Amino acid sequence: MMGINKNASQVIAEIVSNKKVGAYHHMVFAVGELAKFAKPGNFVAIAVGGESSSMVLRRAFAIYRAFDRGTNGGLLEIVVAPHGAGSTWLTNQSVGFKVDLIAPLGTAFGIPTEPIRALLVGGGYGSAPLFGLSEVLKNRGCRVDMVLGASTAMKIYAPLDGKRSVSSLTITTEDGTTGITGKVTDVLPGIIETNQIDIIYSCGPMGMLEAINQIAAELGVVHQCAVEEAMACGIGVCMTCVLPIRGEDGEIRMVRSCIDGPVVDGSSVIWGSKRQIPEGTWGAN
Ligand SMILES: Cc1cc2nc3c(=O)[nH]c(=O)nc-3n(C[C@H](O)[C@H](O)[C@H](O)COP(=O)(O)OP(=O)(O)OC[C@H]3O[C@@H](n4cnc5c(N)ncnc54)[C@H](O)[C@@H]3O)c2cc1C
Ligand code: FES
Repeated sequence: MMGINKNASQVIAEIVSNKKVGAYHHMVFAVGELAKFAKPGNFVAIAVGGESSSMVLRRAFAIYRAFDRGTNGGLLEIVVAPHGAGSTWLTNQSVGFKVDLIAPLGTAFGIPTEPIRALLVGGGYGSAPLFGLSEVLKNRGCRVDMVLGASTAMKIYAPLDGKRSVSSLTITTEDGTTGITGKVTDVLPGIIETNQIDIIYSCGPMGMLEAINQIAAELGVVHQCAVEEAMACGIGVCMTCVLPIRGEDGEIRMVRSCIDGPVVDGSSVIWGSKRQIPEGTWGAN
């Protein structure tokens, strides 16, 4: 078990950009020094609702990109789907407004030391952390293919500059409004075989991650995924975000996905537990 990300700090950060892109808002915050510690896979926890709000829980967002601009300070970017009260409040804030945020939090995607062939798979706004990852992998000499899926075209987040960092981009939508009609999992086996993929990195809804993991297991491909369990504190205190994981010693333990994740080895997750504690879990009997 790990502790909170040792590089995390709490800052009051000004919104420097807030643009609607399809079904999402691309938001940029001036975060100062902490930008240089953010790695692909890490997330940020943002206080929502203002000082007198009853929304006491921070909301977690995957870090899309972070830049250290030297003396000009650092920038941190996220992609937000206005959904419930907290995310809608956040996307309604204007440039110049300041929010209270903690970052970088959680684990990051593991980066290979050798130039290997990687497949990045994102569902909806789950594509956000994958573009920063693809830049890092490209710089290591890896071939990077990407598959993005969503229910409809408006929910595909694929900015032009992000597309430049991948060798191929395949898009699937369930309603066929763009790309191939179907789900990301329909195209994965073909791409894995044709491009001789060594590792899959994924981010998106839990059902999608589980389906990807099954394909990875069948085809013998390593799978790292960024899980999205509901989080309350985001810093390892409340145990809301626990997920059953089988450790190297064979024991199943409930681990906190906010500090031992969100990036985990897909083959170690006990999928389909539906927020129940699986039988045989360490400490449960
Ligand atoms: C690691 C991670 C990364 C994420 N990345 C993104 C992203 O990049 N973009 C994006 O749009 N969204 C992202 N989300 C989802 C985001 O954090 C919010 O959950 C989502 O925006 C809905 O929040 P809301 O305020 O709109 O909804 P509301 O309904 O107002 O609030 C939902 C809140 O309730 C909490 N909650 C839900 N179930 C429980 C429970 N059983 N016990 C306690 N608390 C609970 C949630 O954690 C959340 O804080 C991410 C979530 C996680 C965990
Ligand atoms: S969200 Fe509180 S322990 Fe993970």
